Amino acid sequence: MTDRPILMFDSGIGGLTVLREARVLMPDRRFVYVADDAAFPYGGWEEPALKQRILDLFADLLERFKPELSVIPCNTASTLVIEAIRERFPGHPFVGTVPAIKPAAERTRSGLVSVLATPGTVKRQYTRDLITQWASKCHVRLVGSHKLAALAETYMREGFVDEQVVAEEIAPCFVEQDGRRTDIVVLACTHYPFLVNRMRKTAPWPVDWIDPAEAIARRALSLLDGSQATRAVEPDLAVFTSGKADFATRRLMQGFGLTV
Ligand code: DGL
Repeated sequence: MTDRPILMFDSGIGGLTVLREARVLMPDRRFVYVADDAAFPYGGWEEPALKQRILDLFADLLERFKPELSVIPCNTASTLVIEAIRERFPGHPFVGTVPAIKPAAERTRSGLVSVLATPGTVKRQYTRDLITQWASKCHVRLVGSHKLAALAETYMREGFVDEQVVAEEIAPCFVEQDGRRTDIVVLACTHYPFLVNRMRKTAPWPVDWIDPAEAIARRALSLLDGSQATRAVEPDLAVFTSGKADFATRRLMQGFGLTV
């Protein structure tokens, strides 16, 4: 029996798309959701500084919450730190994520796949290696968006999104080549599934949008290894590294059953 929580870490509110799947699969678990909003957006950070920041934050988070398991669904963070963080905290299980390039390559019929991510994820060697390893027979277009993560943050708090901007940001994902068209877009940022209906609406043609949230939650469940939880007496928490969650943010977190 354990009352240790599962920690979920993201640069902002994007990881909530994974938390909602994790809750379905692990209803007896307590969750601590950590948003590094003081450093949001991660997409534009230089790699060494961001890596150091996340490693330092985890030293503190693991000490403070003593989680049973930590999940880093944030692609921008995970593609950068997952190896280093496992090395730094051996013995603590981490679930990371990588852009869902392999499933996309398996599923595409046209052979044209796009990966929509932050500029950080797009430039990672990790992402490039995934393409070489799993999608060498496809044409993979990497699209780094500077605006979508922030747009999703605003949308979730205020309910407003400028569809014109969504249309512009996703436009480079749509490729036509020799009579074939992109048929799969990988959502390689936790924030993007919040906007997927707007993306569908503004897309030049229908495609499959791959959201890895459920797969990440399944991976976390598999690592729990059948351990039982004492049904949490304490509430699920949301922690903001800025220490300043405004009214709209607190309301959003409450909507997800998280106490700030
Ligand atoms: N949520 C993040 C991801 O999954 C990135 C958003 C950002 O901080 O730029 O990649």
